[in-house]
Amino acid sequence: MPFRQVSRSEIQEPFSRLWNLEYPDDLRSPNEIETSYRGIIEGSFEEHWVEEEGGRLLTAVSAYDWHGTTPPERITADFCLDAEHEKSTLPETFDFFESLTRRAQGKSFCLWTSDRSADRLSFLDSRGYRLKQTVPVTRLDLQAFDPSQFEDRIASLLASKLRIVTVAELDDDGFDWIPALYDATWELLQDMPQAHPPRQIPLDQYRRLFEQRTEAERRLMFVVMDEDRIVGYSRLEEAGAMPGLVRTGMSGTARSHRRRGVVTSLKATTLKLAKERGYTLAQTDNDVTNPMYQLNLQLGFKNCWNWLMYERTI
Ligand SMILES: CC(C)(COP(=O)(O)OP(=O)(O)OC[C@H]1O[C@@H](n2cnc3c(N)ncnc32)[C@H](O)[C@@H]1OP(=O)(O)O)[C@@H](O)C(=O)NCCC(=O)NCCS
Repeated sequence: MPFRQVSRSEIQEPFSRLWNLEYPDDLRSPNEIETSYRGIIEGSFEEHWVEEEGGRLLTAVSAYDWHGTTPPERITADFCLDAEHEKSTLPETFDFFESLTRRAQGKSFCLWTSDRSADRLSFLDSRGYRLKQTVPVTRLDLQAFDPSQFEDRIASLLASKLRIVTVAELDDDGFDWIPALYDATWELLQDMPQAHPPRQIPLDQYRRLFEQRTEAERRLMFVVMDEDRIVGYSRLEEAGAMPGLVRTGMSGTARSHRRRGVVTSLKATTLKLAKERGYTLAQTDNDVTNPMYQLNLQLGFKNCWNWLMYERTI
């Protein structure tokens, strides 16, 4: 089997190359591929591999233990395959994935894929993989989006003494927002429908992650403050490889402040800003059972395709 192990920095370029062939309408730069691994708890199982034959790149895979347990309970993999060779290489590729899971002493193997290849999905089914989670990707046409419809909702939120600010503004005020955001997002994560219970990365790793964020990125991270407490959060991210597209990251509201229009106001604020800056499309994804998915559809987002998570006990 011509698989070759590479480092986290070496996987970025080949993974991005195969990803962009598979998802030409959702291009990712090598740097964007790398950022998705920054949330892996330091010291956890993490391996990156490429499969090559005659100088041709066939497969790129990143396998990791998202929960940071020793030995890992489950191994999760992101992978991309050369479409032309997919049919012939799938069984061998999955032999490789499953032997990697056994070697790591993982009890199950999970993978993310899209619903675009019916052949791949029927292969997974025949190999004993079960669908664990469905996450529709949705997009909003920003030119058609009318932010004025949310002005009253935002005004009534602000009248209740809550403030909508960016974390860059909190920096300017000398407020150490990182531990406040750490606590707020942990509450959100625990309430998000997902296939497996969430895990919390250590605060010092979280702090290092956010200290790497540039000033421009911090100006796209919006929070709702109730005095010194973060009670709402939503963030925009420029899509490096797709000019005109912004992605919205994690959004949510503290349990104590739900159903008061906090997330609606935050989303309307960020989408208005994206429109003013000339972006044409906003993209997001949510578990199909998350109220946020329906809320996004109400905002005008339209379904594009689904990310699917499959799992098999090894
Ligand atoms: C889902 C979530 C973000 C909603 O935030 P919120 O600030 O309470 O939402 P809003 O007050 O702006 O709600 C707007 C509308 O969305 C719908 N909605 C919101 N929460 C809902 C729920 N739990 N069940 C059903 N509908 C809901 C309603 O139509 C609501 O309008 P209404 O209150 O007038 O009926 C919040 O429950 C949350 O933070 N959950 C955990 C984190 C999460 O899953 N985030 C999204 C994925 S990143």
